[in-house]
Amino acid sequence: MARTGRPKVSVIGAGHVGATLAMRIAESGLADVVMVDIVEGMPQGKALDLSEARPILGQDVTIVGTNDYALIEGSDIVVTTSGVPRKPGMSRDDLIEINSKIAKDVATNLKKFAPDAIIIQVANPLDAITYVIAEITGVPKNKIMGMAGILDTARYRYFIAEELGVSVKDVFGVVLGGHGDSMVPLPRLTTVGGVPLPELLPEEKIEAIVERTRKGGAEIVSLLKTGSAYYAPSAATWEMVKAILRDEKRILPVAAYLNGEYGIQGLFVGVLAVLGKEGVEKIWEVPLKPDELEALKKSADHVKALVEKVDALGIL
Ligand code: APR
Repeated sequence: MARTGRPKVSVIGAGHVGATLAMRIAESGLADVVMVDIVEGMPQGKALDLSEARPILGQDVTIVGTNDYALIEGSDIVVTTSGVPRKPGMSRDDLIEINSKIAKDVATNLKKFAPDAIIIQVANPLDAITYVIAEITGVPKNKIMGMAGILDTARYRYFIAEELGVSVKDVFGVVLGGHGDSMVPLPRLTTVGGVPLPELLPEEKIEAIVERTRKGGAEIVSLLKTGSAYYAPSAATWEMVKAILRDEKRILPVAAYLNGEYGIQGLFVGVLAVLGKEGVEKIWEVPLKPDELEALKKSADHVKALVEKVDALGIL
């Protein structure tokens, strides 16, 4: 595959999230894209379809679909979306065994073909699968992160904007913690046009929005019946890809490796971080009130329990 002067992003898993992400990257002209999947013909077909849209969109980026991991060589970023999505009634945690095994296969290939790439991990259960890929690839911890916080925060911001009848652009929200029911939306640090949320909505309304945010993924799963959300997840991943490729130094919520921050050690947990060309360039530690810190630690304990389950599988 001829290399252009553009950045290169490889997307592992050309399913709903992966292909939609490839489309977003191509449409915004961010980078050349390689999509890898184990299903024969499918990534090739989707890449051809996306390429045939290029003349209409006026984009010159290349989009390649393949079953051959060798084509990810030289990637600036690799995004891992390879995994099974949940079915109605399942929690993300129910996917741990199957998606850990897939992650092992993927990580082995990343180590072989793109050892220098920054990794953005999307498969669920997010925080634990990020751990699997970090362990197997052995990449420096600033070069691997999970996508969840931007998605959770986007859901939260959308619900608030709808409730108040204002632009989504003017709602700033913070959601920390693991990507699951224990996630920690922080109303105190949420502002709408600069005004703190607790001054705009009654407590019970805020609590209802927080609860809907926590269950945001399940709400979509139960409506779709097959598969899980992908438009918002791919948009969230696209924002991370852009922040890294363009060295934007954005402060974004991502699942980053914590080395003592918030008193949490050795786990990938959703926190605010500065994203730039080195990946996670800094953990942006937010001063938390004792009850908020306690909720974050509880969420981290949940991630720890999942990581212990992965360790018990004996695949690392
Ligand atoms: N290598 C490459 N691709 C793989 C592998 C592998 N070892 N194993 C599975 N895949 C591919 C599947 O063939 C499928 O095309 O991963 C793709 C996953 O796509 P979907 O089933 O459409 O799932 P999607 O909705 O994209 O979700 C992917 O992201 O949001 C999370 O919970 C979700 O874990 C799930 C992941």
